[in-house]
Order: sequence, then C-alpha cells, then structure tokens
Amino acid sequence: MGRNYKIGIIKGDGIGPEIIDEAIKVLDALSPTMGFNLEYEEMLMGGAAIDETGVPLPAETIQGVKTCDAVLFGAIGGPKWDNLERHLRPESGLLNLRKEMGTFANLRPAIVYDELVNASTLKPEVVRGVDIMVVRELTGGIYFGQPRELLKDRAYNTMVYTREEVVRIAKVAFEIAMKRGKRICSVDKANVLEVSQFWRETVVEVSKDYPEVELTHMYVDNAAMQLIRNPKQFDVILTGNIFGDILSDAASMLSGSIGLLPSASTGAGVGLYEPIHGSAPDIAGQGIANPLATISSASMMLRYALGEDKAADKIDKAIRKSLAQGYRTGDLGAYDAKEICSCSEIGDIIAKYVSK
Ligand code: IPM
Ligand code: MG
Repeated sequence: MGRNYKIGIIKGDGIGPEIIDEAIKVLDALSPTMGFNLEYEEMLMGGAAIDETGVPLPAETIQGVKTCDAVLFGAIGGPKWDNLERHLRPESGLLNLRKEMGTFANLRPAIVYDELVNASTLKPEVVRGVDIMVVRELTGGIYFGQPRELLKDRAYNTMVYTREEVVRIAKVAFEIAMKRGKRICSVDKANVLEVSQFWRETVVEVSKDYPEVELTHMYVDNAAMQLIRNPKQFDVILTGNIFGDILSDAASMLSGSIGLLPSASTGAGVGLYEPIHGSAPDIAGQGIANPLATISSASMMLRYALGEDKAADKIDKAIRKSLAQGYRTGDLGAYDAKEICSCSEIGDIIAKYVSK
C-alpha cells in the first residue's frame, strides 16, 4: 500500500494560479516514482474568495484546511481589491488563515545557488555560499496586537508579545539551529522598544536549554545593513513578525530573485507552504512568472509536513540542475541564461527531471 496524503490547494490571485499549476505538475510527476499518492482539494482565499463569496476567508476554507495533511498556497492580492475595508481585503484572509491554522513559525530559507551568483545585485564574492534560515514569528506582534484603530486624525497599532509566544518561536529556532550551523542571531529593537527588550530576555532564557548553540543579538536596523554588507555571517535569524517580513524580503535579493524563495509556516497542526513573493498582478496571466519559489515550497511541504525527505531532495536537485543547465524565467534572464523559458516550460523541465 502506498502512502496517501491530502493536500489543500489555495491558488489565490495574480500569478498564484500559474505558479501553483507548475508545482502540482512537478508533484504529480514525482509522486509515482516515490510510492506515494497525493489527493488535492482546492479552496478559496484572498481576492478570488472575495469575488466568489464576498469574504477573503470563507468558513469552508477554515474547515477544509483542517482536514488536510498540508496546504500549498500561491499568492493573494491585487489592485482590484485594494480599496476594500481592511478586514475585507485579501491580505486579511491570509493573516486570519495563518492565525486560524496556528502557524506561528515561518521558516524562510535564503540560499544562494552557485549557478546564480551573478544574478544577485551584490558582488559574487559577497553572496557565494549564503545559506540563511530566517525564522519569523507569524501570528503575533504588531500584525495582530490589540488595540488597533484608524481614527480621523490619529491611528495606532500595538506591538505585543507574550512569554509563551516568544518561547515557542525561540524553541523552533534553536531546534533548527541544532541541525544547521548552531548559530542564532536574534533580531530586535531592544534599544527602543520594551517589547523587544522582553523578546531578548526571553530568548536568552530559552537559550539556556541549548548550550551548544551560539546566540547573538542584533538591532533590526543593523541587521538590515549586515545582511547586505556580509550576509555569510548569518546562520539562523530569529525575529518577530514585522521585522521578519522586512528582513526576509531583503534576504531574498541575495539569491538574485524574490521568485526563488519558498517558505514553510508551521505550528501545532497543519502547515502552510507558500512562496514568499506576492501575486505580481503586473505580470499575471502572461506566463512569465518564476514558479521555482512555489515548486521549492512544495519541496518544503514534502520534507516538513509529510516526512518525504527523499522526494524533497529530488525536487531540490532538479531545481539546481535546471539552473545549472541555464534554463531561466525572465526575472533571471540576464544572468548566465542559455534559454529564457515560460513559467510552464520551467515546470515541464523540473517535472521531467523528477520523473526519472
Ligand atoms: C508575506 C507578505 C504578507 C505578510 C502580506 C501579504 C500580508 O508580505 O508573507 O511576507 O506581511 O506577512
Ligand atoms: Mg512580506
């Protein structure tokens, strides 16, 4: 008997459907060779859900994801829905889905492929060998803090972290560091913010259970600078919700394109796997989006959610091979490209590699 998994699919908006289709193509080519079977269930969220149901996160989606082994998600948002009230915007759907699923730990690896060292805007010697894991707290901090309000002459949000929230995300980071280079840099703004001072003190407490891991601290402004100055100094970066949002976009450019970076959001239950980039409405429907971040997110899903490490390795190897052979989507077209490919051609190439 083969292994059977149920995968929730949320295509979303903009380039979401295109890139998800390529990830499914790759998974379907791969699964028969590895002896497992994937069953998909499509669900709505974001702008597509607003158009169909009037709300960005329908109740069926909240129920549906709970019945899955993992959820693969594309991207949401676009100008069409930008003028809606905040709680009805596509982004609210994603934020509430993360909260509903309890996916408090967002893992965002920033890896520079040797094949793409020239694609970064930084010098090759600065980025060659970069391998950073950003561990971003995803269901707390200023994104969710109460009170929050938009008034006529004033608006405010609140950055809150509880001990429980900091301890559980710090533990995730320390466990990951143990399997990597055993170094964590915790990023905060403890020189200004009480919530950051609390974050720092709590991370130090957790570190006592991990004597093998070297813990350092950095202010977020310095961390942004250091990521560009000397990214190789980092192994694991542990940080809160909004700092992690900003630093992971910055880190993504080390690799040459934001179209390359995957993410895994995990917690107590079902995990959510998504590229870190947005829905890119400007290029949607043209077939030129880079599907590698999503295909790579499917690989993280196989590894972290399903324990299918060999299958994940196969996808990772196929991605590298396609880059080594010079196949590129337009975003990477200027760099050592032998052939500029469409989104679906890249999917075909990776699918062919993994089917063997
Ligand atoms: C991300 C995105 C989201 C975030 C938006 C779309 C709500 O920027 O996943 O990084 O801020 O978390
Ligand atoms: Mg972001």
